[in-house]
Amino acid sequence: MARLSLASLRTRLLLLVLLAVIPALGLTLYTNLEERQLRKTQVQEQAMRLSRLVSADHERLIEDARRLLVTLARLPAVRDRNPAACNALFADLLAQHSSYANLGVIDADGNAFCSALPMTGQVYAGDRVYFRRAIETRDFAVGEYQIGRITGKATLVFGYPVLDDAGHVLRAVVFAALDLVWLNQLASQAGLPPGSMLTVIDRNGTILSRYPDGGKWIGKLMPEPLVLKAILSQKGNGTIDAPGTDGIPRLFSFAPFGGTAQSANAYVGVGIPAAVAFAGANQILARNIAMLVLVAGLALAAAWVGGNLFIVRQVRALVGATKRVADGELGVRTGLPQGQGELSQLAGAFDQMAESLDRAHERRLREEELRRKNYQLEQQNLAIQETNRLKTEFVSMVSHELRTPLTSIQGYAELLLEDEQIAGEERESLTIVKKNADRLLGLINDLLDLSRMEAGKIDLHRTSLDLACLIPEVAGSLRPLIEAKRQRLRLDLGDALPAVWADADRVTQILTNLISNAHKYTLVEGSITVAARRDNGFVRVDVSDTGIGLSPEEQTQIFTKFFRVHDRSPQSSRGTGLGLVITRLLVELHGGRITLSSAPGQGSTFSFTLPALEAAA
Ligand SMILES: Nc1ncnc2c1ncn2[C@@H]1O[C@H](COP(=O)(O)OP(=O)(O)OP(=O)(O)O)[C@@H](O)[C@H]1O
Ligand SMILES: [Mg+2]
Repeated sequence: MARLSLASLRTRLLLLVLLAVIPALGLTLYTNLEERQLRKTQVQEQAMRLSRLVSADHERLIEDARRLLVTLARLPAVRDRNPAACNALFADLLAQHSSYANLGVIDADGNAFCSALPMTGQVYAGDRVYFRRAIETRDFAVGEYQIGRITGKATLVFGYPVLDDAGHVLRAVVFAALDLVWLNQLASQAGLPPGSMLTVIDRNGTILSRYPDGGKWIGKLMPEPLVLKAILSQKGNGTIDAPGTDGIPRLFSFAPFGGTAQSANAYVGVGIPAAVAFAGANQILARNIAMLVLVAGLALAAAWVGGNLFIVRQVRALVGATKRVADGELGVRTGLPQGQGELSQLAGAFDQMAESLDRAHERRLREEELRRKNYQLEQQNLAIQETNRLKTEFVSMVSHELRTPLTSIQGYAELLLEDEQIAGEERESLTIVKKNADRLLGLINDLLDLSRMEAGKIDLHRTSLDLACLIPEVAGSLRPLIEAKRQRLRLDLGDALPAVWADADRVTQILTNLISNAHKYTLVEGSITVAARRDNGFVRVDVSDTGIGLSPEEQTQIFTKFFRVHDRSPQSSRGTGLGLVITRLLVELHGGRITLSSAPGQGSTFSFTLPALEAAA
């Protein structure tokens, strides 16, 4: 089970679902509130109807009492103050009106002189409310709750004045005491909903009748203070929510009766339990909430499962892949299917990013490897250069040291050969000594030249040089050798050959090397051509022969030190393999280039260029 934290995507999804449920819950509660309000109004109307019904009943009761009293007031026995006749008549009437506890008459001084029930002694009633009101208003009056002084019962007494014939002087007050026990029975017949209560109070709030349990409440103050306060302060129709004496919340509705709205004689209050009133609404609320919980539960389950299936799994795959990539596993991909959704696009973008990262990383690795190798090569190169330098230094030193003794050997051999007395075998040996000394000196000079050039210690003494003169000169010096092999030498120097900007001795060296090679590697009776042409700011010299030629592979090595093709050279032992290397370096030192075109058995052409003077100037 995944832990539910607020930061988790799924929790947020669930919260969103809950958020969507809140308005529905609010709507349900609001509807219920309205339903309750409606029910409340209905119940209030019901209570009001009931209280009006009850008050109408009571009004009728009062009206009956009034009529009875009006009639009684006209009776001669009353008007004439005949106690005996009056007592008998009233006792008779009381027997017929069971709702009354007593009927009687009180004289103007407040003393009762007639009563349906027998009186024991003098009974004073001048202080009773009904009496005083009847005198004041000279009309029918409703009293308040009282315990009858004759009956000893809880009663509500009505009074009516008995006036003289002119209708001015008060003679007496007739009264009828309504038996509240009987009134109570009336309340029980009102047909109230279960749990309801009905209370009739006098204008002081004393209970005249009550349902249920009326008997124990009659004569007491109404025990629901809130309701009582509302009734007495509003003095009219009204409703109030208040708990009953049993603590059960009720909806009370009340109405006045008797007298005017402003000064009612009594009030009736009906209380219906809220639970009964709102039973329907509560039931609907319970049902709606249950439905809502069910729907919310289903939505949450769907959000949980759907969120897992469509979001959380993908996001986890993405997070997992991201962490692994962050840890350096650049080959990791989300493995999520391609699609149109944002998450699929995100996954696709992530995979692409990982791919680029991977490629960039590989590229960086390769670059690093390359840099490392490059560095190694540079180091090796430096080492080689250093070795080369040491070698060049060594060769140059050795060559230099060898040249002096060799020159003296050569000098002495020459001197001895001048002596004509030396002949035969001696002269032959001396000639060999001289020849080898010459060769060695040539080799040493070549080596010294080369090491000087490689060390960059050679200076060119450039002048304006006319090749049209120099070439025939060099060719002429080699002519004896060439003719000894019966080779043909042809010069093709063109017209108006420009002068070149070059060192005459070095150009002589270049030409000598190339022409002597042509001579050396061309068979007897072959031909050699030296041609010179203007060539785009340069003068190009081609030294061609009809000699043995060179294979493509040999051509690639021809300008490297000590390279010689021994077996194909007729005079191989004579060369050193340095001539062409020196030639190339000298040409390049002048700013020219040397090239070769050749094929085995087809002869060779060595071409080199030198800067023409007008271009160099
Ligand atoms: N014109 C040519 N035709 C055929 N082969 C040639 C020609 N010129 C040079 N070679 C080949 O190139 C090699 C190198 O020539 P290079 O001039 O450097 O040395 P070499 O002539 O042997 O000795 P030296 O250093 O005395 O000149 C030669 O040994 C020869 O085999
Ligand atoms: Mg050579």
